[in-house]
Amino acid sequence: MGKSEDPGEDKHGAPEVDPLQQPARLDACRRCALWHGATQAVPGAGPRHAPIMMVGEQPGDSEDRAGKPFVGPAGQLLDDALSEAGVKRTDVFVTNAVKHFKWEPRGKRRMHKTPAQREIAACRYWLEKELASVGPVVVVALGATALKAVLETRGTPLREVIGQVLEHDGRYVIPTWHPSFALRAPDRTTRERVYADIVQALQAAGQLARDAAGHRR
Ligand code: URA
Repeated sequence: MGKSEDPGEDKHGAPEVDPLQQPARLDACRRCALWHGATQAVPGAGPRHAPIMMVGEQPGDSEDRAGKPFVGPAGQLLDDALSEAGVKRTDVFVTNAVKHFKWEPRGKRRMHKTPAQREIAACRYWLEKELASVGPVVVVALGATALKAVLETRGTPLREVIGQVLEHDGRYVIPTWHPSFALRAPDRTTRERVYADIVQALQAAGQLARDAAGHRR
């Protein structure tokens, strides 16, 4: 049997592993150099067959230490938005486009640095594994990095598609703002508008998930 036909290997020739079952394999990832400065890799978290997957950018400082996605202030904002949108936390699997924290030192602090395209592309391997394992009906892409990773293209500017229901690879994709954008908003009006957009995107995701569940009955 040829190498590419080996059922134990994926299309990239890498061993078939499930990051949800084997976080140690993800933690051993050397597909890009980000592992070097991070405490640990942060796999996605949530129910194995959640109908909604939320994809963020990368773990922040708190997530890097905890080993879990969205445990800091951005996660708190998402929890509030989910509850306002009427979406149960148990219907949502949460992950990131890039699984290691990319940062640069500023004094004693580790400041977030946006991942490069090559890092997003390298980490797409793990996102694919999560998409295949969880099989969500709808993916909510939180911000521009997540959108690039989910659609596998740089050619769709977030601002042009925000809040729309797109289709990619047999599932719905709803792009919205990253929660940190609301947290960093310079004024209350912008913060409230961004937050309302996130709630609306989650409401739409919840509706699509319910519709799909209705069709399966
Ligand atoms: N921001 C992200 O994009 N992901 C996290 O897990 C935390 C903050």
